[in-house]
Parts: sequence; structure tokens; C-alpha cells
Amino acid sequence: MAILRSVLLAVGWAVSSVSAIDISIKATGGNATSHQYGFLHEDINHSGDGGIYAELIRNRAFQYGERFPVSLAAWSPVNGAKLKLNRLDEPLSEELPVSMNVETGNADGRIGFSNTGYWGIDVKKHKYTGSFWVKGAYEGNFTASLQSALNGDVFGSVDIESTSLGDDWVEHEIELIPDTDAPNSNNTFTLTFDSAGVKDGSLDFNLISLFPPTYRGRKNGLRVDIAEALEELHPTFFRFPGGNMLEGDSIDTWWDWKASLGPLRNRRGFQNTWGYQMTNGLGLMEYLLWAEDMGMELIVGVYGGLSLDGYIVPEDELQPWVDDALNQIEFIRGPANSTWGAKRAELGHPEPFELNYVEIGNEDWLAGGAAGWESYKKYRFPTFLKAINEAYPDITVISSGATTDGYRIPEPGIGDYHPYRKPDEFLSEFNLFDNEPIPHVIGEVSSTHPNGGIGWDGPLAPWPWWIGSVGGAVGLISYERNADRIYGTFYAPILRNLNSYQWAITMIQHAADPALTTRSTDWYIWELFAAHPLKETLPVTGDLNPLFYVAGKSTKDSLVWKGACYNTTDHESVPVSVSFEGVETGTRAQLTLLTGPEDPYAYNDPWSGVNVVETTNNVLEANEEGAFEFEMPELSVAVLDTHFEEESELEESSK
Ligand SMILES: *[C@@H]1O[C@H](CO)[C@@H](O)[C@H](O)[C@H]1NC(C)=O
Ligand SMILES: *[C@@H]1O[C@H](CO)[C@@H](O)[C@H](O)[C@H]1NC(C)=O
Ligand SMILES: *[C@@H]1O[C@H](CO)[C@@H](O)[C@H](O)[C@H]1NC(C)=O
Ligand SMILES: *[C@@H]1O[C@H](CO)[C@@H](O)[C@H](O)[C@H]1NC(C)=O
Ligand SMILES: *[C@@H]1O[C@H](CO)[C@@H](O)[C@H](O)[C@H]1NC(C)=O
Ligand SMILES: *[C@@H]1O[C@H](CO)[C@@H](O)[C@H](O)[C@H]1NC(C)=O
Repeated sequence: MAILRSVLLAVGWAVSSVSAIDISIKATGGNATSHQYGFLHEDINHSGDGGIYAELIRNRAFQYGERFPVSLAAWSPVNGAKLKLNRLDEPLSEELPVSMNVETGNADGRIGFSNTGYWGIDVKKHKYTGSFWVKGAYEGNFTASLQSALNGDVFGSVDIESTSLGDDWVEHEIELIPDTDAPNSNNTFTLTFDSAGVKDGSLDFNLISLFPPTYRGRKNGLRVDIAEALEELHPTFFRFPGGNMLEGDSIDTWWDWKASLGPLRNRRGFQNTWGYQMTNGLGLMEYLLWAEDMGMELIVGVYGGLSLDGYIVPEDELQPWVDDALNQIEFIRGPANSTWGAKRAELGHPEPFELNYVEIGNEDWLAGGAAGWESYKKYRFPTFLKAINEAYPDITVISSGATTDGYRIPEPGIGDYHPYRKPDEFLSEFNLFDNEPIPHVIGEVSSTHPNGGIGWDGPLAPWPWWIGSVGGAVGLISYERNADRIYGTFYAPILRNLNSYQWAITMIQHAADPALTTRSTDWYIWELFAAHPLKETLPVTGDLNPLFYVAGKSTKDSLVWKGACYNTTDHESVPVSVSFEGVETGTRAQLTLLTGPEDPYAYNDPWSGVNVVETTNNVLEANEEGAFEFEMPELSVAVLDTHFEEESELEESSK
């Protein structure tokens, strides 16, 4: 018998006297699946601007909306320059009508301005690239530099010869490699010029932009450390752009994908629903490239005729919105010689993107009260469904409601379920989809509220926490065991900037300093489950609770068992015996076990850097009955897989 003694001894769990949970897995009789793990991204709480979108300069183009007045936020004068917002008769573009006027006044020598970035700027010895636009006659050099906000230390600077003549806006490129890494991220970007070289007393600046190296080297791309933390989750499914961002606060402020395309100087920005004006630098094209670079299949949300203020597009005014959705789909997957496919080709991507899933609206049961869903059921969803099915019979159209919440979905539409739950609730919902014939996606999910609390009327837990993560794992198992009808599971929201948030439960936490980029306890569980994708579920028998599990054949044709152990009797470990039909004595499998801290409320803290999740890998051998035997401690999660890298340095367990 191969038991995990090395693990048991290493962490000192008492060997349980409880009798083993016997789990038998049949070799056939399951269902083919294409279930995938992924996440939702929208620009909530600076997870786009100031988050994964790598732009370092905050308020780079003085964008604004009705709710967010134009301002000089994040900018300060240097050496007595006078900064003011300016509306020139000839602005940089119609979309960016306000510039920053920098007046020399009585100041002598080099003057200019600095920017604080998104709560700091990370400065490393690598190449920064960017540009700024100037209007006004200036003879001399501009100096762009990265400096400490604490003591003015300059880590790197570059001189850029002015080509500004006076009447026209002129773009100046910046390329800057600091001489040294800054000791912390409390840094600024500074641009100065010689006041004596300014002909008419002032210069106007706009679209002042600076990027560090980006993920896959894409221009206008993603922050490397955050993108890598996402890529390491093995995501294969990507839902965007929301979420509430898609719906907008009102019909005038839904996220219009058309305004997010093309040169940055033609992007007005977007008044988002999360408390700030977005640059729209992370636009539709950037989202599509992100998905392509990470190999993720898309779910694109199209505006469905409902905004957060409860406004509902009347039936006789819906057609333009349906047309807009069809145009958006054509932009994404139409041939390069179609009207919108040609625009995509112009933007550098003649090859169509693959798009198999389109979702109509977002949570149409929430905003607008009863009328929201009534109108969705009566004409909004059916109209979109029909139009999209006619034009693209192969696209699966997703409704923004779930049958499990009581919403009927006209076929061939499928549902979308958004469980933000207490960990215990994932246990009570374990069978929710077992008898549900209509396919769904779990378009947003996470453990958000502590057990025993008042749920939505109370605050979110402050961080993803261990018991929350294990409860969430029970949820993931409940979806994957119904993987023939649950096509994908999406974590939401995925990112939060530690300097500006209210929604505390996110997969990854970040700030300007990449050292603070933190994988939460949820991250480890999703990474593990997603690393072992199934192509087929297999029938399983055995007792459930406290152990929850699913089994199947992996895409590599190996046999896989995924399990989560929740609260046990007297906190004792649970002996487990997993037998796969047809597996012979001596067959080897790798058990990856995630165990947590003693305190079920413990979490991964960005500032201490402590990871409370312990990962143990062991190779097991099937016993005389062909069973793999091991123990699961209370609040642990595991995957057993007969496919593993033999050559890796795995500790082999012994008798
Ligand atoms: C963050 O998002 C929450 C919604 O979850 C919103 O209420 C809040 O205003 C946002 N905060 C900031 C600073 O963006
Ligand atoms: C930078 O340092 C100043 C002075 O100590 C402090 O007030 C500010 O909050 C710091 N900013 C960041 C982003 O750490
Ligand atoms: C301006 O900068 C360039 C390098 O970009 C340098 O060659 C030149 O000497 C500088 N001119 C002055 C007046 O400092
Ligand atoms: C686009 O090109 C394909 C061949 O590549 C052709 O069959 C089709 O008719 C063209 N469509 C239009 C609208 O020109
Ligand atoms: C599990 O234990 C936690 C305490 O760690 C408790 O809050 C929770 O309600 C328990 N849940 C169940 C289903 O036993
Ligand atoms: C296969 O699908 C059917 C119908 O959805 C379901 O009843 C059955 O439990 C599934 N079997 C497995 C092993 O997932």
C-alpha cells in the first residue's frame, strides 16, 4: 500500500482512525466535455488603467466625462512653471480637446511638469518607450526623466530635441533606459525644457505616455508581471468587457467598442461605472490580442439594451443595437474584405479572430427591476438571439440570466450564473446543476462573504481567504462534474489595485511595485484545477461531504481525480481510496495536494509576501485492488493524475 507518509509526517497530521472514503470511477459512461477555466475582465477598480494596461502616466490626455470633470490630477509643476487646462481652437484631436498649457512666467532655466503615475511608477533598468505631443514654438531640448518622489534622485533621463514649430501639434518620441533600478516605486515621470527657448511664453502638451516593456512586446500592451500571473493560471476562456462596464451608467455611457479603436489620440476615453474616467487605451483590439496571446477562447458581451440606471431600450428602437452587435461580431471574426473586418485588417489583424460565444447584456435581472428581465425575456434577448443565429449559426448565444435563478432561456440560448457566495453556500449548491438540462456558463464566481455573516447586506471578506478558497473549490467541482452542460467557469473580478478598491475579493492584487503583485489563495486552486483539463467526465460513486470530487479523462488521455475536503469531523484528516476501473496494481499517479494555514481566515498578504498555501507533490502507486490511497487534511484540495513528468524531482512515497 502506498500511502503518503512523507507528507503526513512532514506536516505532522495525525493518521486518522476514521474509515476511508471509497471512491470508484468507471472507465466509460461519462460525458464529453469542453469545460474551460477563465476569467472576466473589465476595468473595475483600476484593474485596466493602473492595472494590467501598462501605461505609467496617469491622466495622460486630460480625458473627462459628465461625472468626472477634466482635471490636472497627477500633474505638478516643476521649477515654477504654471500649469493650466487649455481648450485650444486646434486641439490635438476632436476626441482629446483639452491640453495642458505650461507657462514659463518669470521662471528661469529648466521648467516643466511631473506625473505621479498610478500611485507611483516602477523604475527598473529596462527600456521605457513613449511619446508626447507639443504645440507651440520651442527651440532646445526636452528632458524626460524618471525620478524619486522622495528625494529627487534621477534614475535615468534622456534629451529629446524639439521639432516643435508653433502652429502644429508635433509628436516627440521618448526612449529611456534608467542607469539603475529605483529602490522603491515612489517615483515620478518628469519632463522639462528650457524656458528661454519658448517663443510665445507657453507650450501646450497632450497625450503624454510612457510604457515599460510589455507582455509579448506589444505596443500599447499589458504589464508583464500581471499578465504572467494570469497566464500561469492556464486560462483558456476570457469574458469581457463586463460586467457593469458594458452596460454603463446610462444609455449614453455604455462601453461603445467603436470608440476604443485606432490611434490613442482618437480615443475620447470612457466614463466608467467604477468611479473614474477610463483612457480606453485597453480597447476592443487590445482585449482581442490579449486573448490571442494567452490562447483564450472569447465570450464577448454585447450591449443588450439595458443600462444601470434602469433605462430599457424600447422594442421599436432596438434594431440599431442589434445591428451594432452584428457589426462588432463582424469586426472580430468577419473576413478582411467585410465592412468591419476591413477595419480590423487596417488595425493590423487581417486574420479573423475566433469567436464562438456572444453574451447579450449583463445581469439583465438586476438593473431595471422586474422590467429588466421582463423586457429581456419578451423582446431583447429573442431579437438578438435570432439575428445572431441567422448571421452566424455556429455562435452560441448566452443569456445573462440563469435557470437556477428562475429565468427561462429560449433555446438555443444558454444561461449565465453568477454565484458570489459564502464558502458554505457552495456546499449547499453542490447539486444545483445536476438536473439542469440547459447549458450554462458560470460567468462570474468567487467566495466573497464569510460564513455565519449576513451575506450581501454585510461587507465582503477583506481578502480571498483559505476556507473561502476551499469552499470555492467545492463550487468548481460542482460545475466540472456537470461539464457536459457547463461550458466554462470564470473568476471575477480578476484584479485589484491596492491603492484604489472597494471590491476586495480578486484573484490577483497589485500596485505600481511589481513586488506587490500577489497571487491569492484562490489563485493556487484555480491554477491546479485548470492545469488538468478534462475532455470527458467519468461516472463516480462514493460518499460526499466532507469530501467533494469529480473524475474524468484528461485531454492527455490520463485519468484524473479532483477533490476538495471541507470541514471534517473533529478536524481529522480523511483517508481516501480512489480506484479507477481497469487500473492495474503498480500504476503510478501524481497527487498534488494544497493545504492551508491553521487559521481558516488566513490569506496571502502582499506586504508580508507570505504564501499561506502549501503545495506538495507525491507519486503514488495503485495497490493490489488498483486503488490509490492517501489522506486529505481538513480544508485541503488535491488533484490526482496518472500523467505526470517522470523526470521531475518528485518525492516518491514508500510503503
Ligand atoms: C471600486 O469599485 C467599487 C465597486 O465594487 C466602487 O463602488 C468604487 O467606487 C470603486 N472605487 C474606486 C476608488 O475606484
Ligand atoms: C510617496 O512618499 C510620500 C512621502 O513619504 C508619501 O506621502 C506618498 O504616499 C508616497 N506615495 C506612494 C505611492 O507610495
Ligand atoms: C540636445 O540633445 C541632443 C541629444 O538628443 C544633444 O545631442 C544636443 O547636444 C542637445 N542640445 C543641447 C542644446 O543641449
Ligand atoms: C471576400 O473574399 C472572398 C474570397 O476570399 C469572396 O468569396 C467574397 O465574395 C468576398 N466578399 C466580399 C464582400 O467582397
Ligand atoms: C465549517 O467551519 C467553519 C469554521 O471554520 C464554519 O464557519 C462553517 O460554518 C463550517 N461549515 C460547515 C458546512 O460545517
Ligand atoms: C452525463 O450527463 C448526464 C446528462 O447531463 C448526467 O445525468 C450524468 O450524470 C453525466 N455523467 C457524468 C459522469 O458526468
